[in-house]
Amino acid sequence: MAKLLSAIEDNNLDNIRVWDEDARALLPLMGAETLARVFVLYPDPWPKKRHHRRRFINGRTLADIHRLLEPGGELFFASDIPHYVAWTLAHVRDHGGFEWLAEGPADWREPPGDWFSTRYEQKALKAGRTPAYLRFRKIRRAED
Ligand SMILES: C[S@@+](CC[C@H](N)C(=O)[O-])C[C@H]1O[C@@H](n2cnc3c(N)ncnc32)[C@H](O)[C@@H]1O
Repeated sequence: MAKLLSAIEDNNLDNIRVWDEDARALLPLMGAETLARVFVLYPDPWPKKRHHRRRFINGRTLADIHRLLEPGGELFFASDIPHYVAWTLAHVRDHGGFEWLAEGPADWREPPGDWFSTRYEQKALKAGRTPAYLRFRKIRRAED
């Protein structure tokens, strides 16, 4: 957080808001259709089965993110944990309000063109792990 604040000051940025708490508490407080893009990058994997329910991606957070995204807005997810990638695909499919924007393997194996690599991603790549990049577009659900 200190590094982020220094970078904001050094670059004279005045369009950034920072929340240094659990992001799940912030989501319901924000206005509907106020975000163009949401990035969930390398969320904690919680690898033990009994801890999976602590994962950031779940039905509740997907419902919140869906409400926050403007029509056609996009959710980006990256992870180097294959089980979490499959978990996210299954939860997004079950939610029903997102279209997975992948036509072939390159779409999840390669980051999008304007991607900024994160510190965790660099660590994962150095350790020989393979990230997956998932990009979803908000669509209307039949029941909405
Ligand atoms: C594996 S690190 C990845 C950090 C960074 N996104 C990157 O790619 O370098 C996971 C981060 O998510 C944060 N985190 C976990 N649960 C969170 C939550 N509910 N709200 C906000 N941040 C959370 C942790 O504090 C940690 O910094």
